[in-house]
Amino acid sequence: MNDLVLTGDRPTGPLHLGHYFGSLANRVQLQDRYPMYVLIADYQVITDRDVPGEIRKHTTDLLLDYLAVGIDPAKVTIFQHSAIPELNQLLLPFLSLVSVAELRRNPTVKDEIAHSSQAAVSGLMFTYPVHQAADILFCKGTLVPVGRDQLPHVEVTRLVARRFNERYGEVFPLPEALMGEQPLLRGLDGGKMSKSRGNAIPLSATEDETAALIRKAVTDPDRMITYDEERRPGVAGLLTLAGLCLGRSPGELAEEIGDGGAATLKRVTTEAVNEFLRPIRKRRAELGADDVRRILVEGNERARERAVRTLEEVRVAMGF
Ligand code: TRP
Repeated sequence: MNDLVLTGDRPTGPLHLGHYFGSLANRVQLQDRYPMYVLIADYQVITDRDVPGEIRKHTTDLLLDYLAVGIDPAKVTIFQHSAIPELNQLLLPFLSLVSVAELRRNPTVKDEIAHSSQAAVSGLMFTYPVHQAADILFCKGTLVPVGRDQLPHVEVTRLVARRFNERYGEVFPLPEALMGEQPLLRGLDGGKMSKSRGNAIPLSATEDETAALIRKAVTDPDRMITYDEERRPGVAGLLTLAGLCLGRSPGELAEEIGDGGAATLKRVTTEAVNEFLRPIRKRRAELGADDVRRILVEGNERARERAVRTLEEVRVAMGF
């Protein structure tokens, strides 16, 4: 059986450099090796919040981020949940394949509930991993590039696929998670770079915005720049970021900066990031609103055709 890659993101805000080095760069590589689907998981946005918010804007922005970093819509099918009724319909038979106890055990769901600011936990919070199984199985995805937190969802997907095949006959492949070594990318406060911490550099930041963000980064008064993850997380974060952008090691950069202090470190990092983002900004600027709309319409059409075929197979297998 030939491999097919499926992965995706929730459209909740702009992607940042942590996303780039953690997953987007990898996708750009994978698109030349496998057929690939990338999902804008818009229905999944309402798992941990009451309303989808500025969902249209976030969807367009996410698509622009994808295209800007070099995900090629001629090779990759980019699509959204809300445009594929047949994908969503798979949720119903799939839910019949898992027990409530299994839904409750999911460690990522538990963690999200613990960190949620919602007054009440919705049923979707417990069932979205099964919906995610539909995301992966509607196109018979076999390779799922994801971070560690998503492993329980890939396990649920394998469970759903295995039980479906046992009960109704062989329809689905058992997908595998593809975990690359993901470098920890620190944000501008020395903690993990993340949207919610407000310490990230968005891929869509302008040169000036990038400079302003890095200027405010947390460092320390020691003028001698050294790479020490434990004791100097802020300095180490900037060195790592600059290093990734330049394709050099953080230790080597530290030696070069020497006793130049935080000011030099920040100047070097700003130049490195801006140089790195230049082609990404250029590609983004070349895309018009019409291109973006057309790419999404075409991706949704392709994904929908796939979903229609799979749902039909499922109905036949189940005897409906
Ligand atoms: N849950 C993923 C996240 O929060 C997004 C996602 C939805 C996904 N469906 C998927 C990832 C299917 C991989 C495969 O980032």
